[in-house]
Amino acid sequence: MSVCRMWLQSNTGAHFATQAAKTWLVPKIFAWLHSLPSAPTLFVEPFAGGAIVGLTVAFEGLADHVTLVELDEQVGAVWELLINQKGAEWLAQKVSNFMLTSASVDQLLEIQDPALPDLAFQTLIRNRVNRGGILAKGAGRVKQGENGRGLHSRWYPQTLARRLREIDTIRDKLTFIQGDGMDVIRQHQHKESTIFFVDPPYIASDKQPGRRLYTHSEVDHGHLFAMLSASRGEFLITYAASEPIIELAKAHGLDFLALPMKNTHHARLSELMIGRDLAWLRRLRGRTAPA
Ligand SMILES: C[S@@+](CC[C@H](N)C(=O)[O-])C[C@H]1O[C@@H](n2cnc3c(N)ncnc32)[C@H](O)[C@@H]1O
Repeated sequence: MSVCRMWLQSNTGAHFATQAAKTWLVPKIFAWLHSLPSAPTLFVEPFAGGAIVGLTVAFEGLADHVTLVELDEQVGAVWELLINQKGAEWLAQKVSNFMLTSASVDQLLEIQDPALPDLAFQTLIRNRVNRGGILAKGAGRVKQGENGRGLHSRWYPQTLARRLREIDTIRDKLTFIQGDGMDVIRQHQHKESTIFFVDPPYIASDKQPGRRLYTHSEVDHGHLFAMLSASRGEFLITYAASEPIIELAKAHGLDFLALPMKNTHHARLSELMIGRDLAWLRRLRGRTAPA
């Protein structure tokens, strides 16, 4: 079994953020990449979060190189430490040695202005003990948790430590940029062999989660669509289905499909997939049961 598949099979690991980890997307990403005439030189994930897709592409060698971009300082600290500062072993040991209790979590999270490695460790712990893994201010802590395990319900230190070390094995295939994903799209938009997987914070509204999940949730969606439509390389965008986003896709002459799915609370949701031509996705849906 490849490292990547092991990474995907467990839901106990290093997802930072997010609108429910996007593991369901991975088979679709494989189909998308295999539909391209040649493997991309560079795969850019400009709104990286937990970067499940970018990491999978790197683990599976589906692009020569993967660039992850993240604006959030807390999330970015993890990638900065792992990728740019070779800190995976340090972080893995911190995780393995941490005795997780309410008091030890309080003590760790009280540290103000932590140095980068400590901020990365705080982020991992916050992600594990906050409800839904949410990092934004005001996020509540897990109380009952899964199977009544309370604070420990998503704490699997050995699995997490192993994953951190696995990421270290592909570090040379990864670049991390702490910054604005929009800038990085602009810088690469003229390159045909660079492709973009774009999973921005959703449009914030009463019904959409964008604002309460992320510290940074303001994105100029119109500008994002304009840049991607003008790019020479391929791209795939994913959003929670919403009328304004469908209108933007139509205005830019893009193809889109709504995929029905259930979230962690088993509510029915639709996820929009948007690209220049989603024939590969329609073929895939024809072969498999609806997502
Ligand atoms: C929907 S999440 C990405 C989830 C990711 N696909 C995953 O598997 O975890 C969007 C991420 O974009 C980040 N973000 C928001 N605005 C950004 C910007 N302008 N540039 C880069 N990252 C940004 C948020 O902090 C958040 O982590």
